[in-house]
Amino acid sequence: MTNSTNNKMIMNENKLNKILLITGGAGFIGSNLIRYFLNKYPDYKIINFDKLTYAGNLNNLKEIETDPNYVFVKGDVANSQDVKNVFEEFNPDFVVNCAAESHVDRSITDPDIFLQSNILGTQIMLDFACENDAENFVQVSTDEVYGAKFKNFSADENSSLKPNNPYAASKAAADLLVRAAHQTHGQKVNVVRSCNNYGPFQFPEKLIPLMILNALTDVDLPVYGAGKQRREWIHVEDHCRAIDLVLHRGKSGEIYNAGTGNERINLKLVEYIVKQFPGSQSQIKFVADRLGHDFSYAMKSTKIHQELGWQPVKQFEAGLDETIEWYKMHRDWIEAIKSGEYLQYYDKIYKSRLTE
Ligand code: NAD
Ligand code: TYD
Repeated sequence: MTNSTNNKMIMNENKLNKILLITGGAGFIGSNLIRYFLNKYPDYKIINFDKLTYAGNLNNLKEIETDPNYVFVKGDVANSQDVKNVFEEFNPDFVVNCAAESHVDRSITDPDIFLQSNILGTQIMLDFACENDAENFVQVSTDEVYGAKFKNFSADENSSLKPNNPYAASKAAADLLVRAAHQTHGQKVNVVRSCNNYGPFQFPEKLIPLMILNALTDVDLPVYGAGKQRREWIHVEDHCRAIDLVLHRGKSGEIYNAGTGNERINLKLVEYIVKQFPGSQSQIKFVADRLGHDFSYAMKSTKIHQELGWQPVKQFEAGLDETIEWYKMHRDWIEAIKSGEYLQYYDKIYKSRLTE
């Protein structure tokens, strides 16, 4: 054991005020997680390490930016020097790795950055977590690693990984690297695989905020294929509680699925949203389907219920109504996003589809 490891162990024995490094904290889930942790653990110091890609938005954290327990550090998980600097400066006890390129459509047109940030980035984070004897490393993963639902089969944590798009494949690769760090170095790790998240601060490239934003601004609502695909939805706050439980009480080396059973057909969901915007029903447009579009996902979440007592509490339609209201009340947040990059992306993905 090195002197620094020894010193850290002695310090930790007396320490309640942990240092938590959250990567990707300026994104949707990360920013909700930071607010959640600052609120729940007033003795923790939270370091938000984020590259600020198109999806990283410090406006998501405006109301806590001056909190003395919060620090923002701009950096790239795929850049060893950036990661080394943040570990040297803060010596975190815990790491929650949220940083990732997160959108399936972008991974189909531009996969390289997904490999860089999601795979290489996870390995670099793991290397430094190991070197610094982090007390736990939680990887924020997804049900998409199991691939599309096949017949009546629901994946448990031991099911095989069969990702079908570059995003899902990069997340599956990252999960395996997390496992490898545990097996090789004895690093304490957990993986949380949740279904589709929704809630405030979600970037409007994902289904729910995109439909709300378009309905708000009288733009067409592009439904892929015939809209028959299904997704299972979790409110981001329920996901934050699952990550918290796994971080503090997860059995080392274990994976936990976090699903809700709230599965909805895409078209029905879009129809529910447009009902809140009189006149927008006629703006639903069926457009060319996504390549390799997974029809639905299915996973069992009994392990996290039984071992950690986690249950989702947010009823889906109530959570959706609150989310719609949040976007209606945050027009400034939306306007700031609808800048050059978003419009270019929108044209690239939707223009030809909507004019076909
Ligand atoms: P997001 O796209 O809203 O945010 C991602 C954040 O990561 C952004 O702030 C971005 O700037 C940052 N980032 C990207 N590359 C980085 C890099 N190389 N270095 C440092 N920061 C970088 O994504 P999200 O929806 O909040 O997802 C967060 C995590 O949760 C991802 O790992 C995603 O795979 C996973 N996940 C998301 C969902 C979902 O429905 N959104 C479901 C399950 C799992
Ligand atoms: P998305 O929010 O991109 O999440 P994921 O692909 O990771 O599940 O998409 C959710 C579902 O909505 C998926 O079946 C694709 C569909 N979809 C549309 O029909 N239209 C859209 O414009 C988008 C973004 C998604």
